[in-house]
Amino acid sequence: NKNEKLLLLRDAIDTYPDFPKPGIIFRDIFGVFRNIAALRALKDLLIEHILFLEVDLIIALDSRGFLFGPLISLELGKPFLPIRKKGKLPGKVVQRSYELEYGEETFELQTQYIRKKSRVLIVDDLLATGGSMEAAIETVKLTEAEIVECLVIIELTGLKGREKLGVPVHSFIQYD
Ligand code: PRP
Ligand code: ADE
Repeated sequence: NKNEKLLLLRDAIDTYPDFPKPGIIFRDIFGVFRNIAALRALKDLLIEHILFLEVDLIIALDSRGFLFGPLISLELGKPFLPIRKKGKLPGKVVQRSYELEYGEETFELQTQYIRKKSRVLIVDDLLATGGSMEAAIETVKLTEAEIVECLVIIELTGLKGREKLGVPVHSFIQYD
């Protein structure tokens, strides 16, 4: 059942204190990919959740969001687009800079493949300060698409990232 799946998933996420900088408690999603039972549990949880969403387009964040975007895309039968760190995407792009828990970055998104009023699901592995997700939201809004939900596997609730986003957020595993 759902609780067992959540427990399997939580158990598979590895914790590294003081990585990549002192004071950061790093939650490593790749532990899930080394544990097939946990990976299946996550797939089930994701599918169960997304089947209720009405979206036209899946957009995931560079790079760990890419682990989940195409999977969701296949399940929903809707296309996938990447948001990438700057300088990687050809063609016309919109961009937005942001700060994250341990640095600074710029996101880019190709505009030519997004229709105005598209209903978008934004996907990432983890919500920490929310800086990355906020920048992703702002980037998507530059294309005049509508954001249905931000979906993350892990939420670091103590950082209150969700409060700065102003769109619905769903997470499966929470750490304080
Ligand atoms: C990590 C993580 C999220 C973001 C969360 O990505 O995958 O995208 O940080 O932090 P925030 O909520 O404080 O913005 P990172 O920028 O380390 O890049 P990666 O996915 O390429 O490892
Ligand atoms: N991205 C930002 N903060 C993080 C953390 N504490 N663990 C893993 N990824 C992160």
